[in-house]
Amino acid sequence: MADFTSGFWNWYIIIPTIAGIIACFVMIRWLSSGISPEETGKEMDHVWDEDLVELNNPLPRWWLMMFYITLFFGIGYLTLYPGLGSFAGLLGWSSTGEGSQYEREMALADSRFGPLFERYRDMNIVAVADDEQARRMGERLFVNYCATCHGSDARGAPGFPNLRDNDWLYGGDPAVIEQTILDGRSGVMPAWEAALGAGGVADMTEYVFSLSGRKVDDAAAASGKKKYAQMCASCHGADGTGNHALGAPNLTDNIWLYRGSRKQVMESIARGRNGQMPPHREFLGEDKSHLLAAYVYSLQTGQEADE
Ligand code: HEC
Ligand code: HEC
Repeated sequence: MADFTSGFWNWYIIIPTIAGIIACFVMIRWLSSGISPEETGKEMDHVWDEDLVELNNPLPRWWLMMFYITLFFGIGYLTLYPGLGSFAGLLGWSSTGEGSQYEREMALADSRFGPLFERYRDMNIVAVADDEQARRMGERLFVNYCATCHGSDARGAPGFPNLRDNDWLYGGDPAVIEQTILDGRSGVMPAWEAALGAGGVADMTEYVFSLSGRKVDDAAAASGKKKYAQMCASCHGADGTGNHALGAPNLTDNIWLYRGSRKQVMESIARGRNGQMPPHREFLGEDKSHLLAAYVYSLQTGQEADE
């Protein structure tokens, strides 16, 4: 299977590789011969620290042998395995594709772990979350596939929700969690800078802070409140408690997806936000997603695997 679309890149690899090997041979031959018996052991002109001198001696034999061994190993390797351009190697080994080592190892893993995943497939998520072994398997999957964004402790990071805090963008129902994992989510918060103007964004921020009981400038908050009903309530709710169907966060609980500093909240309102949870249906399959949903669900009930 050639990865190169034109012959040029093929020879671009092959020619310098072979030329390099030949050059190494020539250089070792040259360095290991050519000192005449009279010259051997004589002092050369190099002196360090006044009395440290260099003698003209041939390279030690074992040292030379190491060079030859690595050279022959390299030639053997390039003959048997792929390496020289698109030459496949005499053994026909390949990292990908039909019958490759990767495919064989994946098939082996499926046959070993498949039945384990299947056991939980038809159990409901609450029951799976109750099972110690299932939670451990879920935790391992989580660390591999979800921790990059949600953190290995599932506490999230700015823009990536904390999955332990019982505060949900889309709801903590087992079926909803599973759907989030399978099909992904896209949270769309529009930008309001154009509609509100800079002063309007600042006033609106004061009003948003007042919803979670922070001390605010009352006049500014009152001015923000007037526009809230018309611009924001449709998604965040008239009382600011959010909307699970849209993934619009609760603004009254002082838990922030994008940090709760004035700067960050103003940024959310002025520029908008668009958090993307990628879908995992194709990538992980339904059995693993089912276990993951149970693991995430177990985090809120506090019955996660003990260390
Ligand atoms: C590329 C980063 C990324 C990866 C990988 C990722 N997530 Fe997410 N996830 C997000 C983002 C961002 C959101 C919030 C989406 C939004 O803002 O609407 C989210 C939301 C969620 C939610 C909804 C939380 C709520 O409050 O309703 C759950 C549950 C979830 N992720 C679980 C997982 C699981 C389980 C995995 C591993 C299979 C995973 N995520 C992998 C980025 C990621
Ligand atoms: C179309 C629905 C929609 C409207 C209208 C809307 N929002 Fe949002 N808002 C969202 C969504 C969805 C998110 C979460 C974005 C994400 O997941 O990345 C959000 C996020 C936010 C955040 C960040 C919250 C956090 O926890 O960090 C703030 C603050 C906010 N909105 C305030 C407002 C204000 C103020 C208005 C009115 C000017 C408004 N929103 C109008 C849907 C909306």
